[in-house]
Amino acid sequence: MKEKDFLMIPGPTPVPESVLHALAKHPIGHRSKEFSDIFCSANAKLQEIAKTKNDVFIYTASGTGAMEAGIANTINPGDKVLSLVIGVFGQRFADIAKLYGADVTEIKVNPGEAISPEQVKEKLSQYKEGELKAVTLTHSETSTGTANPIEKLIPMIKETGALVMMDAVTSLACMPLNCDELGIDVLVSGSQKGFMIPPGLSFIYVSEKAYAAKAECKTPNYYFCWNQAKKALANDTTPWTPNVNLIVALEKALTIMCDEGIDNITSRHVRLRDTLRAGIRALGLKLLTDDSSASSAITAIYPPEGIAVPDIRAAFKKDWNMIVANGQKELKDKIFRMGHLGFVADRDILTGLSALESVMIKLGHKCEAGATLAAYHKALEEKQLCAI
Ligand SMILES: Cc1ncc(COP(=O)(O)O)c(C=O)c1O
Repeated sequence: MKEKDFLMIPGPTPVPESVLHALAKHPIGHRSKEFSDIFCSANAKLQEIAKTKNDVFIYTASGTGAMEAGIANTINPGDKVLSLVIGVFGQRFADIAKLYGADVTEIKVNPGEAISPEQVKEKLSQYKEGELKAVTLTHSETSTGTANPIEKLIPMIKETGALVMMDAVTSLACMPLNCDELGIDVLVSGSQKGFMIPPGLSFIYVSEKAYAAKAECKTPNYYFCWNQAKKALANDTTPWTPNVNLIVALEKALTIMCDEGIDNITSRHVRLRDTLRAGIRALGLKLLTDDSSASSAITAIYPPEGIAVPDIRAAFKKDWNMIVANGQKELKDKIFRMGHLGFVADRDILTGLSALESVMIKLGHKCEAGATLAAYHKALEEKQLCAI
């Protein structure tokens, strides 16, 4: 059946119909009052979602653009940067910093592991006072479905005076995140994830301390320059022509999100994660990440012995019109990943689990038909998670 595709990848994610309709409207002038009103409303709601009063800039760029902007506006060649790397995207942040001439030290762990407070404490103790300029870290590492314990790590980093630069591309609007309470200086996210709109926009939240770093930063930049963005923000607009239609859609999506409430959104994601994980385990499949550091946005699953990841993905697509993701880089064909972020409901988890069960049975994996539904209900009951 055509047009029944369902994305269960970690982004792009499904888009609500009313948001698609907003996207389909004629473009409006980006210097009009009408646009400014929509833009300001979106900005205020972006602050609400991240629990912050910091300025937020909307770039017409994907998440990587916002990551690069964070580095380009703060880091001078030779600055010492510590990068916490738990997968592909943590590595990307480190690589961008290196490209801009930073002296980068990395803490790396095995795929599926998070970075521990002990590791960070030990590494931080090796810097002289005031020597470390910034720490880059990923909240939810999309390549592994692992989340770093940011509530423990960030206060330790703050004590050193270093800037905290966090990639929240698949955590913001999915996992609990209080930007101001934690004191995150540079926080980046992207539109095609928890924000329920297509790819093409990214967001960067900038603290006063990050602005102070910008004032001392000699690295040249133009498109992503915070001075330009801040000046335009004071006039309720963007410095350059933005993707107007995506911003109209963003405002619509944010209205839906703020109506649900950010805390309700993050508890929904916990429920989706926990019920999905219970169903997967009921099929006898192993997960890459322990419960203690599981992301609420993505789950990485090992295929059963003798069944290839490409065959699993092909069966999902052919039989169920469902798209699940492969592993990335060294995890390619070693794991598959199911995304459950953004416009995802309990019904989608049940559908995803039933499809997974059917795919497994079809590919010859020994499991009991109906196991996922039983596990789903058991998880709800045991964890006292209230569905729907
Ligand atoms: C955690 C994380 N960081 C950064 C990115 C890069 O974002 P983009 O592909 O939008 O440039 C992604 C994309 O999947 C991501 O998941």
